[in-house]
Amino acid sequence: MKLILAPLADYTDAPFRRLCRECGADFAYTEMVSAAALAYGHNPTRHLLERMDGEGPVGCQVFGASEGDLAVAARVVTGRGFAELNLNAGCPMPNVTRCGAGAKLVGDPAKIGRLIKVLKENTDLPVTLKTRIGPRPGTDTIFEIVDAAVGAGAAGIAVHARYTSQMHGGPVHLDTLAEVVRRSPVPVVGNGGVRTKADLAAMSETGVAGVMIGRGAMGNPCIFNDLKGVYDGEGAQERPSGPVLCNRHLEYMLEFRELLVRKFPDDHVPSVDGYASVKMHTHLFRYFSGRPGAAALRARLNSVRTLAEIREIIKTI
Ligand SMILES: Cc1cc2nc3c(=O)[nH]c(=O)nc-3n(C[C@H](O)[C@H](O)[C@H](O)COP(=O)(O)O)c2cc1C
Repeated sequence: MKLILAPLADYTDAPFRRLCRECGADFAYTEMVSAAALAYGHNPTRHLLERMDGEGPVGCQVFGASEGDLAVAARVVTGRGFAELNLNAGCPMPNVTRCGAGAKLVGDPAKIGRLIKVLKENTDLPVTLKTRIGPRPGTDTIFEIVDAAVGAGAAGIAVHARYTSQMHGGPVHLDTLAEVVRRSPVPVVGNGGVRTKADLAAMSETGVAGVMIGRGAMGNPCIFNDLKGVYDGEGAQERPSGPVLCNRHLEYMLEFRELLVRKFPDDHVPSVDGYASVKMHTHLFRYFSGRPGAAALRARLNSVRTLAEIREIIKTI
């Protein structure tokens, strides 16, 4: 089964995608990139489109509701080595839905069709969609969404098998997902709540072409190889320890910062200390979660300002 790193805002940057690739991810997505920001030439947003060696195939995800912005965004994203251009029609955060994007689109399949068509007209990349099964229980718009998206030329659909009203919690509706797989003429990727081999087996039974993993990978990039059984049994690959993963993550982050400095000499890129502490802060919380002393470390992480302090903290994992 193809295992895919889900788009995760503030997490799935190039260093984390590279780490997940090394830990068994078959494919990964950028975090959602604002089509409006790309259309208006917002400099820091361009940094989200940068890649590192060793990431494997990556899809670029954009969000927006304006056909004009999405047309420009598709042209900006094209030619940068992405394997796919994905439209976000599932994010429930108010800053995204307020402008009619993300999960706001779940209730408007016809608009999803129009936006996919615009993307198709402005790129030669395969265009895909990531969406949910409906706005709320009893309103399964997913079947109309599939018809509209495929009619407009979508090459694949990733379905987070929850309703928008569920945000990121509650049951994952595998029966509906299986029905989507049965009816869809294009490959369907399943998403929602996969953390264990049993979760993966249950989702695989729906017939999906791939399984997308989000929160299960946060602080645990090895989840991909865990699910594939790469670390099981005699003669198996050794599972990297927490400190090994964190140090590798940190080194990739610093390498990526160098890449940004070289490529965008006129943009503001934080100092090594600033970059390392802000970026690693988010991830270290996850690496530590559930470990003894996590609460004390949480407090310590909040006051971290330098690379040296980050290195010290990693030693304690
Ligand atoms: C912190 C966070 C950030 C997310 N960012 C995005 C995003 O940028 N684009 C997107 O389509 N979904 C985003 N999602 C949703 C995930 O891609 C995924 O659909 C959801 O977490 C369910 O999968 P999971 O149960 O494996 O986590 C985000 C979720 C979380 C928790």
